[in-house]
Amino acid sequence: MKRIGVLTSGGDAPGMNAALRAVVRTGLSLDMEVFGISHGYEGLLEGEIEEMKWHSVGDIMQRGGTILRTARSKRFREEKWQDHAVNILNAFGIEGLVVIGGNGSFAGGLQLAKRGIKVMGVPGTIDNDLGYTDYTIGFDTAVNTVLDLISNIRDTSSSHERCTVIEVMGRHCGDIALHSGLTGGADFILVPEIPVDVNSICREVLRGKQAGKRHNLIIKAEGVDIATNELVQRLEDVTGIETREVVLGYIQRGGSPTQRDRMLASVTGAKAARLLYDDVESRAVGVRGEEVISVELEEALNMKREFIKDLYDLATRLS
Ligand code: F6P
Repeated sequence: MKRIGVLTSGGDAPGMNAALRAVVRTGLSLDMEVFGISHGYEGLLEGEIEEMKWHSVGDIMQRGGTILRTARSKRFREEKWQDHAVNILNAFGIEGLVVIGGNGSFAGGLQLAKRGIKVMGVPGTIDNDLGYTDYTIGFDTAVNTVLDLISNIRDTSSSHERCTVIEVMGRHCGDIALHSGLTGGADFILVPEIPVDVNSICREVLRGKQAGKRHNLIIKAEGVDIATNELVQRLEDVTGIETREVVLGYIQRGGSPTQRDRMLASVTGAKAARLLYDDVESRAVGVRGEEVISVELEEALNMKREFIKDLYDLATRLS
């Protein structure tokens, strides 16, 4: 393979730039031509494609976000636009594509793969919701950002002796809540994978109050089946304790990537470019334990993320 493209798609994640750098520089080292596609699949449909050189990705390792920009393309879900994307790639002579993104982005890539383009998925999403890999790029940074914020919130929550519900990202996957809640010493962790029992939380809070507990931190993933403001209201009504909500939102998605995310991005980005050079079938690259792995793209997409119940139980026991 001589000419490859790379794009970032879906929600941005810290470390996407480090992955891009690894793709571009590995591709160039292997004497391939590398083209950057701006604004994800939207940009692809518009032909926003530019050749990248070694210096194009200089000084970006430490930067959050994505210098290629990103988008969620609705029209790319339609077959006629998928055909159009292949025509554009053919017009530029691009035979292989690295897609840095999450589930939706890989699903888009699969459609291109079915039309003859070799596609390599690099897991870029803070959600850590991909089944085939232990970790995704951006997750570690997001968790560390949440940890810092929890510690700030703890100060004011304890001073006022309040309950505080902190909503973190994660529509289907509770990993950000679980990892930040466990390591941030939260009193309760609410995730979409485990049904929430508000009465039991109220009972625990009241028991704690009797025992002299001054405040409570509740980390709640956004995808949990009770709205945050409703939960706050019920807690306050039942326990009589002043309760506040903090929705962390996009603060979690920005910032300079941690060492772990930079490393994950570098090894998976490099592997994706290498796989294109080797001309193998479309795959998704990730990590299991210390090993960099790749899984056939469709199979990777079909693998359901396993929720680590043991970790959740440990967090509950330690809280
Ligand atoms: O990137 C994943 C994610 O951060 C989710 O956790 C969140 O629900 C969503 O993106 C929000 O994305 P948008 O940028 O479309 O508002």
